[in-house]
Amino acid sequence: MRSKGSLICLRLLCAAAAIYLATALVGVSAHANPFPKGNAAAGKTLHDKGCVTCHNSMFPDKDGRQLYSDLFRKADSVAKLRGMIEFCNNRTKSGWFEEEIQHVGRYLNDTYYQFK
Ligand code: HEC
Repeated sequence: MRSKGSLICLRLLCAAAAIYLATALVGVSAHANPFPKGNAAAGKTLHDKGCVTCHNSMFPDKDGRQLYSDLFRKADSVAKLRGMIEFCNNRTKSGWFEEEIQHVGRYLNDTYYQFK
């Protein structure tokens, strides 16, 4: 009898652990950000400095923000957004590191793309 009792205890413990884990995971994903280490304000500064002029020149009304609008954007995933940031950054030869990419990614995602 004793062994059966402890088995039930173990099952309860497992169930409790599973529920705990599930809520913990939901909690994490609800707060997850594709650019967790990025600082949007720092990203805006970098973006204003190195990226805006060229994007602006692409539009007749000189408003490059349209590039990120639903109408013009091609990036439809975090990976593609990241890829374009890296691609464009390489062309500017600013030599950004992961840190800067996170900042600009955070800024663009928070402001325009809003990928989860
Ligand atoms: C020399 C001009 C130029 C500069 C400088 C430039 N870009 Fe771009 N960028 C482009 C062009 C052209 C496209 C569109 C490419 C396409 O649609 O295939 C683009 C597209 C993008 C996109 C994708 C938009 C979308 O969803 O379709 C992102 C993101 C982006 N640029 C980020 C940056 C960042 C960040 C910088 C600064 C490091 C930067 N760009 C600097 C020319 C430039």
